[in-house]
Amino acid sequence: MKVIFSSKNMYFVKPIKKYAEFYTENINNVEIYRWISSNPRNYTINEEINWIKSIKYEPVFTIFTKNKEIIGNISFNSIKNNIGVIGIWITPSMQNKHYGREAMERMIKYGFEKMNMKRINITVFENNKKAIKCYESIGFKKYRTVKNVKDGIGNITNNIYMKIERK
Ligand SMILES: CC(C)(COP(=O)(O)OP(=O)(O)OC[C@H]1O[C@@H](n2cnc3c(N)ncnc32)[C@H](O)[C@@H]1OP(=O)(O)O)[C@@H](O)C(=O)NCCC(=O)NCCS
Repeated sequence: MKVIFSSKNMYFVKPIKKYAEFYTENINNVEIYRWISSNPRNYTINEEINWIKSIKYEPVFTIFTKNKEIIGNISFNSIKNNIGVIGIWITPSMQNKHYGREAMERMIKYGFEKMNMKRINITVFENNKKAIKCYESIGFKKYRTVKNVKDGIGNITNNIYMKIERK
């Protein structure tokens, strides 16, 4: 396990092939894909292995608890003009335990302090109440709404764009 950095209760680890089965199970789980894409599809383990191989410079981390239990992924999906866009998922059985909040806070610190970002964005479906609550508790503010988008199970909702700025 190659730990890149850590926070109080978790390690942020380089993604490797050994974790591909965990990624595949989660990305194909409705409780994950319904919230992260308007056009979900089923991924194979080989696609996940290829995804791991394709990671070059983007900061993508697999999250482990300090008991070495694998619980999710967090990444900057794009970085442009010192603005990073975060993507995150926590495996369903480990949600609602504040791991998401702690992981986001640590990733924001990494973005601001190590990657010189001036602002970090996240996009969330408006019906993803848990995620919005989590991001607001960290200090993210809504700055844009795109109406009438489909979530990953075909429900019509809005896309909420949120941001946090470096102080
Ligand atoms: C969104 C996600 C990363 C949040 O991580 P998490 O560890 O579950 O969240 P946290 O426990 O840190 O915070 C969740 C908060 O929402 C609250 N909450 C839970 N269900 C809720 C609901 N239905 N409505 C409103 N608030 C809710 C919790 O009580 C908690 O608030 P609190 O801090 O006041 O106790 C995680 O749930 C997840 O991976 N979800 C599926 C994929 C996803 O949505 N990814 C993000 C796409 S933008």
